[in-house]
Amino acid sequence: MVELVRRMTQGDIERCLVIEEQTYSMPWTETIFLDELVASGREYLVAEAEGAVVGYGGVMLVLPEAHITSLTVDPAQRGRAIGTRLMLALADEAREAGARSLTLEVRASNKNAQSLYTKFGMAPVGIRKRYYRDEDALIMWVHDIDRPEYSERLDSIRAGVEVAS
Ligand SMILES: CC(C)(COP(=O)(O)OP(=O)(O)OC[C@H]1O[C@@H](n2cnc3c(N)ncnc32)[C@H](O)[C@@H]1OP(=O)(O)O)[C@@H](O)C(=O)NCCC(=O)NCCS
Repeated sequence: MVELVRRMTQGDIERCLVIEEQTYSMPWTETIFLDELVASGREYLVAEAEGAVVGYGGVMLVLPEAHITSLTVDPAQRGRAIGTRLMLALADEAREAGARSLTLEVRASNKNAQSLYTKFGMAPVGIRKRYYRDEDALIMWVHDIDRPEYSERLDSIRAGVEVAS
């Protein structure tokens, strides 16, 4: 299914914008993507299937913390482990950069995404009131991602998606 997870380039932005606009009521603009790609401490990745970008995600490194800034899959391609593969790659990036914790905000109503993050050991620790203007955000964290136990968790998730594809 997903053949490749690789660095996002400027050439990917047009496709990411289409997915972004199909997904969010307040989508990121081209300027935001361009700024994020050159900002320091950011890593943006895309997943490709049959030569097309089907999802993307990013992480902001503020060591020892890593903050997932985005994770989005083409609506037509959801439920096929693309989000899981992107999260695996983002967690790898964070660990390789020396991060010890992973955090993100997620819409309080977005149970699918929360369930994905729970698989990655993330747990809710608080609420940011009206973070999305129309809704609260749940703040999720996982600590000790530099430890062997977390490596084992990632290996087990990786083994699961490899069997499934
Ligand atoms: C959240 C999102 C990135 C997940 O990507 P995906 O490729 O569909 O997810 P996967 O196929 O890898 O599924 C991973 C896990 O997510 C959860 N999940 C995903 N879709 C689900 C659904 N329709 N119902 C229930 N759980 C779901 C499950 O825990 C699933 O694990 P499982 O297959 O072991 O049950 C994708 O649905 C998306 O782009 N949603 C809109 C944007 C968004 O909400 N982004 C997150 C912002 S914080």
